[in-house]
Amino acid sequence: MCGIAGYIGKNQANEFLLSALKKLEYRGYDSAGMTILDSDGSLGYVRSVGKICDLEKKMRNEKKITGFVGIAHTRWATHGCPSEKNTHPHHDCKKDIFIVHNGIIENYKSLKKSLEKSGHKFESETDTEIIAHLIESHFDGNLQQAVFNCLRHIEGAYAIAVVSKSDPDKIIVAKKGSPLVIGVGDGEYFVASDASALVGYTDRVIYLDDDEMGIIEKDKYKIVSTTNNNQIHKEHCKIDSNVCEIQKCGHEFFLLKEIFEGPEVVENSIRGRIISEKGLTKLGGLEVIDQDKLRNINRIIIIACGTANYAGMIGEYMLEEYAGIPVEVEIGSEFRYRKPIIDEKTAVLVVSQSGETADTIASLQEAKRKGALSLGIVNTVGSTIARETDAGVYNHAGPEISVASTKALMSQITVLALLTVYIGRSREMSLVTGKRITDELKKIPKLMNQVLDTNEDIKRIAQKYSKYRNFLYLGRKYNYPIACEGALKLKEVAYKIHAEGYAGGEMKHGPIAMIDENFPCFFIAPSDSVYEKMWSNMEEVKARNGKIIAIATEGNEDIKDLADDVIYIPKTLEMLTPILTAIPLHLFAAYMGIEFGFDVDKPRNLAKSVTVE
Ligand code: M6R
Repeated sequence: MCGIAGYIGKNQANEFLLSALKKLEYRGYDSAGMTILDSDGSLGYVRSVGKICDLEKKMRNEKKITGFVGIAHTRWATHGCPSEKNTHPHHDCKKDIFIVHNGIIENYKSLKKSLEKSGHKFESETDTEIIAHLIESHFDGNLQQAVFNCLRHIEGAYAIAVVSKSDPDKIIVAKKGSPLVIGVGDGEYFVASDASALVGYTDRVIYLDDDEMGIIEKDKYKIVSTTNNNQIHKEHCKIDSNVCEIQKCGHEFFLLKEIFEGPEVVENSIRGRIISEKGLTKLGGLEVIDQDKLRNINRIIIIACGTANYAGMIGEYMLEEYAGIPVEVEIGSEFRYRKPIIDEKTAVLVVSQSGETADTIASLQEAKRKGALSLGIVNTVGSTIARETDAGVYNHAGPEISVASTKALMSQITVLALLTVYIGRSREMSLVTGKRITDELKKIPKLMNQVLDTNEDIKRIAQKYSKYRNFLYLGRKYNYPIACEGALKLKEVAYKIHAEGYAGGEMKHGPIAMIDENFPCFFIAPSDSVYEKMWSNMEEVKARNGKIIAIATEGNEDIKDLADDVIYIPKTLEMLTPILTAIPLHLFAAYMGIEFGFDVDKPRNLAKSVTVE
């Protein structure tokens, strides 16, 4: 969590820094701050609790700072509450060295104690502040050397940017475990937690790897290793994002924009990846691995967190049913601390929108250490997971800005379906089945548009149910993960409400006790192989006066006998129904949050990339 930015060059630093913070705000938004060095040797800093717009207001009205070198930060609190004194940038005793940091310094307590013993005075409760003091304790006029020496004492994860009044014409950046990218401009350099913050400024970037440090001046830079100080040569990469992708383009919220982008996202995820006449899929990213090795895999472990984990659960059903390979799905935060049994015939498949989720990365690294083949389904190009997996498939969903993940889920399910055909066709899947899945996949964007066209009905249903404070979401088989997703999204963006997602068959084992006229239930009940079972669950809820909102397949009029409200989806292959059933649930959560007056793009307490444990 947290976003960091930096600028050095010919222009006023605050312009880029504010723009970058706004684009990085999804990473944390409880407070923000900036330090700028001016050419006359002076240094100014400003910090503010709240969102970037509050910082901007403060900079306009109370505290103007100017100059050509600067660093900035948007915070998601880990150590110490959101308050001005805990807001970055943090500084040393003399207010000479300023630092912004994303990550967690695990040994900060012992370092703080020994720094305090030698006379350092701390102002904040953060782990970050110790870095500024540690650099101070090593500083003799050369910032690069001081940062290098300081990093040798630090344990944990960090992406940092540091400036000093006494060595003013440079920014020092370093990374271990948290992302950091340097943008190369014309007589200027940019620093950011991710490349989306650079869009509109430069398309040339250098991704810093772990244990690397960058020394950036106005017209040159160099990268050195933080283990031995040796210089490292790194190539620039080109990023291809356009500005519209990171603007709301007429929508009130990114969340709504991204839900409505779903059909285009699925188009992009399948583009060039289907060979219709052969019922095959072509996943270029997987062609780099030895195909025999892939054929010999006898088990897949899917690892992911949150919404990506629900996509993984859908993938499990698909891969087992159609590719005939055993699959387990694991939450990153659990997998990393287990003693997983892995051999060279195991493939781990990590699914992540950001490619930076700390628990997923740690699990991936653990699985790789144990000899697993590592595969990824990742949206963010150049992210840590994209770089650390042996091979992978990009989602091509475009930047997802809203904290709540929606369009990425659509793409993850789509890519998992493509992967099912890819693996299945090299095993037992017939041409006919391969063709059936790929033909149906191609129709999905059109069907998604039909569901999106019912958005006004869904808004009306959300308003009707806005007085309830508890919801149960039930689904079976492919739509069990979607029940969990619907509940997660409601909790996330309409957080006055508590919601639970359950497998329909589990209702009788406990949750049914809660059902009465004040407890609405969402039934995700398309006409599929488990529809009759869902019908029985609906009867059970109705018999206890529970309210029912059903998602059903067009043409199913009977369901109106039991459901108070019905949202219809068009017919498709059972394994692809989650792409359609998720849409009304995403819209319902969004409209509910908007009804409550919440900023649904940035719900309280959350951050987009969960880069801490
Ligand atoms: O970037 P990732 O896909 O790895 O993120 C995983 C979760 O943090 C994410 O899906 C989270 O649960 C979302 N806020 C859900 O909307």
